[in-house]
Amino acid sequence: MGTITINGKKVEFTDEKNVLTIIRKAGFEVPTLCYQPELSIFGACRLCMVEDDRGRFFASCSEEPRDGMVIYTHTERLRKNRKLIVELLLAAHCRDCTTCDKHGRCKLQKLAYQLGINNVRFENHREIQPVDFSSPAIVRDPNKCILCGCCVRACSELQGIGVLAFAHRGTDATVTTAFDRKMAMTNCVSCGQCRVVCPTGALTIHHNMTDVWQALGDKNTRVVAQIAPAVRVAIGEAFGLPKGENSMGKVVAALHRMGFDEVFDTAYTADLTIMEESAEFLERVKAGANLPLMTSCCPAWVKYVENERPEFLKNLSTARSPMQMFASVLKENYRKKDAEDGRTTFHIAIMPCTAKKMEARREEFRDAYGVPYVDLVLTTQEVVQMMK
Ligand code: FES
Repeated sequence: MGTITINGKKVEFTDEKNVLTIIRKAGFEVPTLCYQPELSIFGACRLCMVEDDRGRFFASCSEEPRDGMVIYTHTERLRKNRKLIVELLLAAHCRDCTTCDKHGRCKLQKLAYQLGINNVRFENHREIQPVDFSSPAIVRDPNKCILCGCCVRACSELQGIGVLAFAHRGTDATVTTAFDRKMAMTNCVSCGQCRVVCPTGALTIHHNMTDVWQALGDKNTRVVAQIAPAVRVAIGEAFGLPKGENSMGKVVAALHRMGFDEVFDTAYTADLTIMEESAEFLERVKAGANLPLMTSCCPAWVKYVENERPEFLKNLSTARSPMQMFASVLKENYRKKDAEDGRTTFHIAIMPCTAKKMEARREEFRDAYGVPYVDLVLTTQEVVQMMK
């Protein structure tokens, strides 16, 4: 407990772990690239530096608060320092901003704008690396990596997997997978937590928007969507509706205007999944076997058990996820109709998580002809972008 003076304003603190948290609590903002409150402190980017009353610089994210500290967050020296850091990062960064998936949402781009950087004085000597499109869920572009380590920490600390790690040293340092394998060849569960914390376009969603636009433009294709429960609230928020407001009606109307023929609610098969799981649970209790029963609705969790904890495979429910239950019902429902009107039904699942893209590609979720029950999965972010 104590008091810190920030830019002349006295601020009390109690159990805050670092100076940065207190600065933000006081209503001041300092830029950060490698800090994520839910991850361990890395202290790599040095953008959060502040200056004390003796002119000493320190990284506020990794400094414990002390009673009586006097700090400044926006001195001229700090501004110049931050500008140089961002300029150096940009010097070693791919600068195809207008075609980058993170365009408009990239933290580095935003900082360059805020700091008024309109010229980079240094040349980029980094060799251009191939972009990894192998995962159905995540695209990894090493050319846009700024070595903040957020993805490395999220993968190991939040998910307990550790697919991504630092390799090499100095100017050769890079974030990569073991033996530089493609993402699809690793134990990645496609959860997408790495791309959530990535400040730039180094890790992004594997998009399927072009395929969807093509299907929507084809008169011989009946485009049918199912929408997961969480999506209806998130889409509303993206368009400025109050947090938590259910915008299902608006979403359905928008999808119809975009050309979707039918829109269904995945909540219906979420009920079916619960009924199946309950029946399975009662059977297992009666038999006294394979308990506790664990859900199989999350494909990232299923893949995690398969890869990392196979001893629990017998505990997973054999029920399909709500998305896959709906998919098989829809495929069956439109089979006859397709034969009658000569159209082909294209089934899109609108889901909140990138792992659903991986689930849709699993071998066991294909019909007798080898066709996936779900043709494509769109994430909330993709649908918002398409609507915009
Ligand atoms: Fe503090 Fe990166 S946010 S060093």
